[in-house]
Amino acid sequence: MTPENRKRFHFTAWIIALLLGAGAATLRADVRPVPADPAVEARINALLEAMTLDQKVGQLTQISGGKAAEYNPGAVDARTSDLLQQIRAGKVGSFLNALGAEYTNELQRAAVEESPHKIPLILGYDVIHGYRTIFPIPLAEAASWDPALAERSARIAAVEASAEGLHWTFAPMVDIARDARWGRIAEGAGEDPYLGAAFAVARVRGFQGDDLAAKDTLVACAKHFVAYGAAEAGRDYNTVDISLQTLHNVHLPPFRAAVRAGVGTLMSSFNEINGIPGTAYPYTLTEILRRQWAFTGFVVSDWDSVGELVEHGFAANDTDAAVKAIQAGVDMDMSTLAYRDHLPEAVQAGRVDMATVDQAVRRVLRIKHRLGLFEDPYTDPGRAPKVLLCDEHRAAAREIARASMVLLKNDNDTLPIKPQVKSIAVIGPLADSAQDPLGTWAGQGKANDVVTALTGIRARAGDDVKITHALGCAVQGGDTSEIAPAVEVARGADFVILIVGESRDLSGEAHSRTDLSLPGHQLALVKAVLSVGKPTAVVLMNGRPMCIPYTAEHAPAILVAWHAGIEYGHALADLLFGDHSPSGKLPACFPRNVGQLPLYYAAKSTGRPLEEHDPYTTRYIDSPNSPQFPFGFGLTYTTFEYANLKLSSTAMKPNGRIQVRVDVKNTGDRAAAEVVQLYVRDLVGSLTRPVKELEGFRKVNIAPGETETVEFELAARDLGFFGQNLEYVIEPGQFKLWIGPNSAEGIEADFEITE
Ligand code: NOJ
Repeated sequence: MTPENRKRFHFTAWIIALLLGAGAATLRADVRPVPADPAVEARINALLEAMTLDQKVGQLTQISGGKAAEYNPGAVDARTSDLLQQIRAGKVGSFLNALGAEYTNELQRAAVEESPHKIPLILGYDVIHGYRTIFPIPLAEAASWDPALAERSARIAAVEASAEGLHWTFAPMVDIARDARWGRIAEGAGEDPYLGAAFAVARVRGFQGDDLAAKDTLVACAKHFVAYGAAEAGRDYNTVDISLQTLHNVHLPPFRAAVRAGVGTLMSSFNEINGIPGTAYPYTLTEILRRQWAFTGFVVSDWDSVGELVEHGFAANDTDAAVKAIQAGVDMDMSTLAYRDHLPEAVQAGRVDMATVDQAVRRVLRIKHRLGLFEDPYTDPGRAPKVLLCDEHRAAAREIARASMVLLKNDNDTLPIKPQVKSIAVIGPLADSAQDPLGTWAGQGKANDVVTALTGIRARAGDDVKITHALGCAVQGGDTSEIAPAVEVARGADFVILIVGESRDLSGEAHSRTDLSLPGHQLALVKAVLSVGKPTAVVLMNGRPMCIPYTAEHAPAILVAWHAGIEYGHALADLLFGDHSPSGKLPACFPRNVGQLPLYYAAKSTGRPLEEHDPYTTRYIDSPNSPQFPFGFGLTYTTFEYANLKLSSTAMKPNGRIQVRVDVKNTGDRAAAEVVQLYVRDLVGSLTRPVKELEGFRKVNIAPGETETVEFELAARDLGFFGQNLEYVIEPGQFKLWIGPNSAEGIEADFEITE
């Protein structure tokens, strides 16, 4: 591009942005704030008039208060502590970890019958992937590439949790995670903002249902606002230092999607962003969230993240922390008690306006109204026994677990297991574990509810197939003495299922790792068992992408099963025996080694993109750049052929759209679902653009021999980005488009956005 052209190009992009009203203006225009209800506002105004400052701050205070006995051993029982007194005095507006219909009804009774203004409590809990019926971890659900399934599991979780007196879940976690060392990658939808946004919307809808006031819904909480997944070196809670463009183009989109889907609350993050902690950042909490997105719900801090402003070196003491957090836009303080103990003095000292406090209280009370708590705060204790773990919920858990598993390799059609197989060895430390399939943050999930791999395989194999089992080694630590007996068990069987990976305590919050290979002696076990030479399927149980180069090269078949929830064993058997075909695709790439991290497909080209034979291009001297398995990758028991890629036009205006269609043929002899993925590349931009970005996907069932025509609509408006000045720009120019089975393959076409 000549300098003149470049200038013209910039100018045109700007004009287009202005004409389309893009950037902040458009964002304001296309958000859908919940309209204020005048009657509710009047009621809130009357309450605000009547409340003392301490009572107002009480509404902004969340305390952990679990029922000691069956739900939360060791937690404080509000009935036997001074917490009940605090409720009666109007000093607490919310609890987390208080569970059970009868218990929560007692707390509510103290609030609505004995506190000065009779304001109900809002009760929150981490209902992350199920309440009692535990579904696959969120990363696994994202591997289904079927947001409708995530909506269903969130709906079921809400039905169960609300029956136990809860109103609010601290989910979905919508953080983008591009470094698998970060243990919390398990809790989100993986590395991609487009996929992440789709799952964010689905989960918000599932939890919140059509009517927040219904008795079986939970208000959702999109967390952790923002960029928590970009922690340096993948270490939890660590510093985040990223450009504001990356913040806007990568980390904010799933939050924005959640806000547009009507999410009622957000949680501010532990991490700092370029020097300012997420819990005290006016730019994200007020400028973006309130001004640009018109968010009307409330923001809760993360656990003690207000107090941690002191540790960050951003606040001098808890008073200073409370002032900075509320002024930035955090409405409710989770567990620090900095608001309760210090905001009143800060208001009296003129450091915080009463209007700021009133605004936060107003936001909290609005959500309590929307939940219908002012009308009826109680929970019918008869509901929980009917809905928790009911057959319908278990059936959904099985279907969703099945759809989440990803077949990474299947040489010589090793899977499914053939009918002539008469003996199967089920080997590995995770083969009969009932704890580990629950995964991280398993709510009220119980090991007793879990179908282990061994149980599921036994149930499906029936009496005619002999099942043997050996542990092989421990998940971590231990010695190698059990490997030889496991090898003997493998030798005596027609088929081997080797189940290895991560126990549930190896991912999740505060569980970052520097080594993503198979822990303990599991690799030695894999090598020994594979050396027997039997047809073998390696099943990976994992909470994150792992580095499995040896297994990837030598195992005949690999199925990623994740921490798949209570129906794990049944779902696994459904796929291993071919009753269903695998249909999952990776929501985050699997690296070859930890040294490649962070690793993601939507990378930038650099000025020296990799050229195999040129050493002075971007590369390692000891590892390929490419992942072991790319984003979007997954096989099944049939093959698909992509052909006839057609665009309705190869040019569109900045306000235009084109239709894209492709024929996908099932060329094998089994029915299966394929996730058809559409990627684009903006070839030249006023900021460099990623080499590929997901812009659409469809999961379609295709019968053997059949061809499905899959259609997408591409709007130029969605192909813009936040540019140098953080304005949203749609720039005219050439684009490349791919449609294919994953981020590394596909058939191509070109199109352009014209002026
Ligand atoms: C800390 C975690 O970061 C957050 O995700 C969770 O919701 C809270 N603790 C409450 O348990």
